[in-house]
Amino acid sequence: MTVSTDIHFDRIVILDFGSQYTQLIARRVREANVYSEIHAFDIAPERLRAMAPRGIVLSGSPESVNAPAGYRAPDAVFELGVPVLGICYGMQSMAAQLGGEVETSDHREFGYAQVRARGHSRLLAGIEDEVNAEGHGLLDVWMSHGDRVCSLPPGFTRIASTDSAPIAGIADEERGFYGVQFHPEVTHTRQGARILRRFVHDICGCASDWTPEAIIDDCVARVCREVGDDAVLLALSGGVDSSVVAALLQRAIGDRLTCIFVDNGLLRLDEGDQVMSAFAGRLGVDVRRVDAGDQFLAALAGVSDPEEKRRRIGRTFIEIFEEQAAKLDGIRWLAQGTIYPDVIESAGATTGKAHVIKSHHNVGGLPERMHMRLVEPLRELFKDEVRAIGVELGLPPDLVHRHPFPGPGLGVRILGEVRRAYADVLRRADAIFTDELRTAGLYDSVNQAFAVYLPVRSVGVTGDQRRYEHVIAIRAVETVDFMTARWAHLPYAFLEHVSNRIINEISGVSRVVYDISGKPPATIEWE
Ligand code: XMP
Repeated sequence: MTVSTDIHFDRIVILDFGSQYTQLIARRVREANVYSEIHAFDIAPERLRAMAPRGIVLSGSPESVNAPAGYRAPDAVFELGVPVLGICYGMQSMAAQLGGEVETSDHREFGYAQVRARGHSRLLAGIEDEVNAEGHGLLDVWMSHGDRVCSLPPGFTRIASTDSAPIAGIADEERGFYGVQFHPEVTHTRQGARILRRFVHDICGCASDWTPEAIIDDCVARVCREVGDDAVLLALSGGVDSSVVAALLQRAIGDRLTCIFVDNGLLRLDEGDQVMSAFAGRLGVDVRRVDAGDQFLAALAGVSDPEEKRRRIGRTFIEIFEEQAAKLDGIRWLAQGTIYPDVIESAGATTGKAHVIKSHHNVGGLPERMHMRLVEPLRELFKDEVRAIGVELGLPPDLVHRHPFPGPGLGVRILGEVRRAYADVLRRADAIFTDELRTAGLYDSVNQAFAVYLPVRSVGVTGDQRRYEHVIAIRAVETVDFMTARWAHLPYAFLEHVSNRIINEISGVSRVVYDISGKPPATIEWE
């Protein structure tokens, strides 16, 4: 008999005070092969105890510890007898809560800093970027704070300092409480991953149970327990999340999985055939393809408002999906590719803190209408973990590492009214841009890249011919979370080559422009 490990047993709980980096902390802990969960800082003490964490991390925050609201973690954090690491605000609030003092500094520190490690703490011992003449370790770190700790709580020593933050790290080694003013979770802190690994493995004593193979075994076992002998239906879009769900369910329940793939006529070039060959062909998954381009175009005729287009695409999808599902008998479960950031965001939405900028609905609303129960095998996973298990499950790497593609597809990349002829041109322009990115080895250096169809006319000249045709915009962005993004500084020679190819090879396009807008203020998609 094989004894299987509970991969959630060694868990780190991260209490979120609202920092933009909180999800990064959780991801770094997971990259150290340890399971982590994010919860609001004001979690009920009994819930925290019931989770039996092996360690707790307190996140940063845009707030001030000395503000009237003065957010604090529950006292239980410091009574559980497990190590605690406070990061930035997390360190300050821990210091204030345990009897130290925090002052608002007149010097805001934001950006790179060099921290001097002191006292050979367990957290930082032997971890350094350089050593100075006196033998002290120096760390290149990322700082972002105004307040600073000015007096240590009883039992604590100083373990790091900078000129502007003489107390840049604190520790009570006996109780296993640590704080750092800098952000070990961001990659600019070069030794950050090592510091977090030191905390979770050496200080909290967590094993390395959270690996792609173990995650797959755990997901498969859970799906089997959940659905028993029932059959499951999945809306396969060809995106990373639904693809990995398909591969995972295939492993868990084999031919009791049926997928419906709706080709809405707004997909990228050859995408429908690629999805079919990856799933129906290679993995032997039962995929029913529905070519519904005509229905979607009919629903979109004459509509130019972006949100109305999204609504119509969503509604048409549901109608077609329900029609297809009605042909299948006795399916009680609908699988969805919900991932952990969606779960965290909807938790945020229920507290009213999330602000909806665009309605991102794909298959929302389906399970209630269809009286089906939901199975969501990726609910605990971050996108990079989803990709890692996708590769492990045998999905084509190109598919797994594809840039995200919005549910409404080219429907929101053709500005204004969607027409078949526009979609055909856009698909070809998009394929040229993507192929060239791959050929130049640039595809993976950006996080999303695509073409947009602008139905405005511009004059051009080819040979002696005057052209008066439409415009293609190309956009490429670098982003970690898609909430903020920087336009990618692609080489001019590359852009020139892409532009020449698009104008020369596609009739109907007289001009190509490159989008140099960051998010904010511009969103990534144009609609
Ligand atoms: P924005 O344009 O809001 O995009 O900066 C952020 C990310 O979300 C994707 N996106 C969508 N995805 N349905 C989706 O499934 C949608 O309606 C939708 N709109 C935007 C966008 O591609 C980017 O990755």
